[in-house]
This record gives sequence, C-alpha cells and structure tokens, in this order.
Amino acid sequence: MTTKQNKWWQSAVLYQIYPRSFQDTTGNGVGDLRGIINRLDYLEKLGITAIWLSPVYKSPNDDNGYDISDYEDIMDEFGTMADMDELIAEAKKRDIRIIMDLVVNHTSDEHAWFIEAKKGKDNPYRDFYVWRDPVNGEAPNDLESTFSGSAWEYDETSGQYYLHLFSKKQPDLNWENETVRQKVNDMMNSWLEKGVGGFRMDVIDLIGKIPDEKITGNGPKLHEYLKEMNQATFGNYDVMTVGETWGATPEIAKMYSNPEREELSMVFQFEHVGLDEQPGKQKWDLRPLVMSELKQVLSKWQTSLGDEGWNSLFWNNHDLPRIVSRWGNDQEYRVESAKAFAILLHLMKGTPYIYQGEEIGMTNCPITSIEEVEDIESVNMYNDRLSKGYSKEEIIHSINTKGRDNARTPMQWDSSNQSGFTKGEPWLHVNPNYQEINVEAALEDKESIFYTYQKLIQLRKDNPLVVWGDFELQETAEEVFAYVREFEGERWLVVVNLSNNEQPFTSQEVMKEVLVQNMPVEDSLIDIKLKPWQSFAVKV
Ligand code: GLC
Repeated sequence: MTTKQNKWWQSAVLYQIYPRSFQDTTGNGVGDLRGIINRLDYLEKLGITAIWLSPVYKSPNDDNGYDISDYEDIMDEFGTMADMDELIAEAKKRDIRIIMDLVVNHTSDEHAWFIEAKKGKDNPYRDFYVWRDPVNGEAPNDLESTFSGSAWEYDETSGQYYLHLFSKKQPDLNWENETVRQKVNDMMNSWLEKGVGGFRMDVIDLIGKIPDEKITGNGPKLHEYLKEMNQATFGNYDVMTVGETWGATPEIAKMYSNPEREELSMVFQFEHVGLDEQPGKQKWDLRPLVMSELKQVLSKWQTSLGDEGWNSLFWNNHDLPRIVSRWGNDQEYRVESAKAFAILLHLMKGTPYIYQGEEIGMTNCPITSIEEVEDIESVNMYNDRLSKGYSKEEIIHSINTKGRDNARTPMQWDSSNQSGFTKGEPWLHVNPNYQEINVEAALEDKESIFYTYQKLIQLRKDNPLVVWGDFELQETAEEVFAYVREFEGERWLVVVNLSNNEQPFTSQEVMKEVLVQNMPVEDSLIDIKLKPWQSFAVKV
C-alpha cells in the first residue's frame, strides 16, 4: 500500500546558503544573517521556494558551525535571534521557507551538556555522550573519525574515552538516552514554533550507531528514533525534513521516506557523487567518472522509489567540489557545461537543491599550499597522509579536486574588491575569477547561467510533468544523457551532451516546442550532431 502525496516540498526548489560565505554586512569578513536578508530579493528573482540554511547556531567553529554549543542561540559573528526572526519573516513575505540545519548526531565539546558530562562519571549529563573504558590501555576499538585518526578521544579526568565520529570537538550524543532524545525534540519544537519550514538533518543515518560493534550508519534503532521524533515534533506541522543519508540504497530510502512510515519527507543520498571514487576507499582516492555508470545510477533513483519515497536532486553542497569544475569544463565550456548539468538535473523527478553560486557557474578554487586551507577535514587528511608517506603534491591534488573549501569561497556578487562579499578581509580567499564570474554580470547577461536556472525553476512550477512524470532513459551514445518524462499524455525529451566533443544523436520523436536550451536546437531530431555540451528539453 502506498499513498500518493501532494506536498509543497515535492514541487519545491531549495537553495542552500552557507552563511559564512554568503554576504558580510559588518566588515568582519564573515557572512551574516543581515547579509542574507539583504539578498532575499535576489533569491526571489531566481524563483526558489525554500532556503536550506547551513548552521547559524552558537558555535566555536571547529567545523564551521557543525559543532553547536547552543541550539537556541545564534553565532555571534552571524547576528542575533532578532535577526533570525526577521529573516524568517522577510523570507515568508517572499514565499520562501527557511529550512534549518539540524546537527544532532553530535554537539560541540563546548556545549553545556558536554561541559557537565566531562565533570565526572556521576554527572547527570555523563550519559548524554558515549563513554567507554580503555581496552588494554588503548582506545576501545579502531573506529575512525571521518576527519582522520581515531574516533575515540581520551579524557584524563575520568580515564575514559569518548566517541567522536567527526572532530574531537564534536562529541557524539548518546541517542539511547531517552533524555537526550527528549531535549532534542524540545529544541526542535521551539524552532518549529518560530515558523521555520523544516529541517535538513545532518548525518542523521548515524544516530542509531552501536560503536562497540563498529556499526555507525543505519543502526538498528535509527528508524524507531525517527518515528518518535516525527510524532513528537515536525509531524505536527506542515514542514519538510530531509535526511543526509550517506549510503542509502533505494530500499533504505523508502524506509526513511515512505509517507506511510511517517519518518522523513525525503532523503539526500550521494550515490551519484561517489562514482569518481575508488570503491571501499576514501573520498580522496579518485578514479575517472564513467558516464554509463552515472546514467545507470541516476535513472535507478528516478524509477525505483515510485510513490514509496522521495529523493533530492543535487550536484553540489558545502561538502562537495563545484560540478562545473568536477565533471563539467570550467574553462572553454564553463557556461555551456554549467547549463548542461542544470538542465539534466532540474527536469528529473525529486526536489532540486541549488548550492550558492552554482546558479552563476562558480568554479573550484585551486590552492598551492596547505596554508591556504581552512577546512578541518582537508587539514587533518593532509597531516594524516603526509605521515603515511604520500607526497605533498599528491595531497594538494586531492584537496584541489575534492576539498570542501572549493565550495566555500565567498559568494561572488560583483566585480568590486573582494567580490562585494565583504568590505573587510574575507575569512577564506575569494576566487580570483570573480571579476568575470559574479551575480551582477550574470543578471546583466540574458544568456547567463542564472537565467537558465530561473527558467528551469519556472518550468517546474508551471508543469506537473516535471514533478510527477514517469522517467525513461533513452539509448544514446556513451557521453549523451537523454530521457523522456511523461505525464497525462504529455511527453518531454531531455537531451544532454556531457562532453567536450560533438556527439551523434537521433530520435524519431517529433519536436513540438523547445522548452529550454543552452544553444539553438535543429528543427529535426533525426541524425543530428550535438555540439560540445549542447543540451535541451523539448516537448514531443
Ligand atoms: C555533514 C555536514 C558536514 C559536517 C559533518 C559533521 O556531513 O554536511 O559539513 O562536517 O556532517 O557535522
């Protein structure tokens, strides 16, 4: 049994803001809430429905806000709770909902709960975190942190270790403790009462972990906890929830997002963006992307959920390199390839996410030395791999290809000093290409990437086919990705050349109307040659 839903978030388009890098208004080099408020008109013009706001809570910023020391207060650098209330209200006026980043797998080690917990074994907050005795004088087991090294940190005071699946300043919460779950629910309810549009749930697949058995993702009680949370909090509001669900298969995605199970609205899974990594190794261990695999994985996710689940569509976020540099061509075909990836993704089924700057084709920002890197993941990996004998060149190459700072350089607003991001010194260097690539230039150019995104968002708003239509992959040359969407007798054909070369394409379909394109389309689709990165969607 399944239920067909028709929820606002199924036809929504989200825009992710990484506040630290979006818009500074104070001159301290760090973006802030007021900066976001000032840019809402721009986002309204783009047409998005909701903003996924990366964390803005109080934080010592070991992991740029993903280490929270107070869930009910705002980071000093970003502003005040009054600014936050204003942001929610101003966004609402423009029909934009604010989706909060919910980081509850762990807190900061500077959170009051952890400060208490550290005081000793008898402290009432001790069990809020995961503590274990040493085994043979060493860490309880060889679980590793995502940010390199052991996931266990020794605590001198008590002679025990605590678990941190990320940095040692991000101790994992103990979800088996009922009071922890209760406190998280209370906190979520206070945000819901403020009128937020929902939550993006950071590494939510980890909360059911059993560290003693080295089970981290998809633990046995994960779905029980989510059901409980749904009932106690967001299930009582018309909001969306999206789970960051690493390693989800379509079957697992249905467990999270089948409406009948009353857990989350949708998953955000990474299978397609892992295709250029060596299986079983780390994200830094690269291999070339094979187009047929990309087609196979994306179409599998298009067809396997049916009415029993909902998926997110994305190329980028604050943890991933920029798509135009990664799989596109950020030199000769920057504009064409950025539009090609946009057309390919935005006409699929699912809820699309645009990461700040993607809509103007911002690129990766290569570095030459580790001194230029801010991201804790890259810095730790650098030290770890150096000690394991990798060469500096190799490591810097990995960082330039996959490092998270690529996506975190400041938003490029205009060609003025520091790209209009700040009047001071930015916390992370601005990409030197800002004089060419910036919002002001994009808005002035009718052919810019921005207007392709705007068009694609409008197509989704105007056409239920984009939201609900069936999907069918077409047989094509290896480097061409083509599919048909079909809904209530209407058919759209989407054709994307994902290469720097001309590619053959043929279809017997009769073209009725061009819906979107990145260069002029021929009149007939029989035996045509697609130009490098040529992409279009047509009614047939
Ligand atoms: C998620 C976030 C990432 C963060 C990590 C720990 O993967 O997207 O930025 O470092 O969780 O919170």
